[in-house]
Amino acid sequence: MITNLKIKRFDGKNEKIDNFEIEVTDRTTLLEALMHIKDNIDPSLSFRVQCRSAICGTCAVKVGEKHILACRTKIKDLLEENNGEILVEPLSNLPVIKDLVVDQKIYLEKLKDVKAWFVPKEPFEPVYPEDLKKFDKETDCILCGICYSACPAFQSDKDFGGPINFVKVYRFWKDKNDALGDERIVLARENHITSCVHCKYCTFMCPKEIPVEQDITQIEFYGKQKGIIEDQQQGFGFGFGFNPPSF
Ligand code: FES
Repeated sequence: MITNLKIKRFDGKNEKIDNFEIEVTDRTTLLEALMHIKDNIDPSLSFRVQCRSAICGTCAVKVGEKHILACRTKIKDLLEENNGEILVEPLSNLPVIKDLVVDQKIYLEKLKDVKAWFVPKEPFEPVYPEDLKKFDKETDCILCGICYSACPAFQSDKDFGGPINFVKVYRFWKDKNDALGDERIVLARENHITSCVHCKYCTFMCPKEIPVEQDITQIEFYGKQKGIIEDQQQGFGFGFGFNPPSF
């Protein structure tokens, strides 16, 4: 079938929407459609792609109110969800470099602020399957930036660490062989974990089904119990002036 794909373009100065008419099948993915356009219609179209199999996280874009991996999303499904009108846009909360390419440095750099790496404890304890289960989902994070893009907390706190950061905090905090322990909760506090508005968009949008908001809630709850995080401020509420998407 022939379908129209609208794509938001940016050349470094100006924005515009381009309309492309392409032929797709029921199995065509959004990434295949973008590649078809680049190879056959407009070679100047810019987007990111590497693995083409939902592993590297580079192809994340926005269509309507959803933030998705282009390589694993079918055009047919997007047409159904968006009443036949597909507008592909770059991720939000990140500067656009060109067309659908955003500057991922913003959230990748922030990972350093929470020491998003394993710090081995001495002596190393044996690891059993039940230990790994505690952070099994969190290890699936592919750093695609979708949760960062979907997060409304940046509207009220530009210094908010972002959902990715707190998934990493959770992953290493739950690892019994990580040496930092409660220092990870201190890092979460310093990265403004309490600015999370608990809207759950990060959880709804995560292509790896990581319970991001639940992880944040657990870190906050533990931190408050231990007196590491002050029991105050925002948290657990809405009303910060953001416009919630409808699902
Ligand atoms: S191209 Fe790697 S996740 Fe889509």
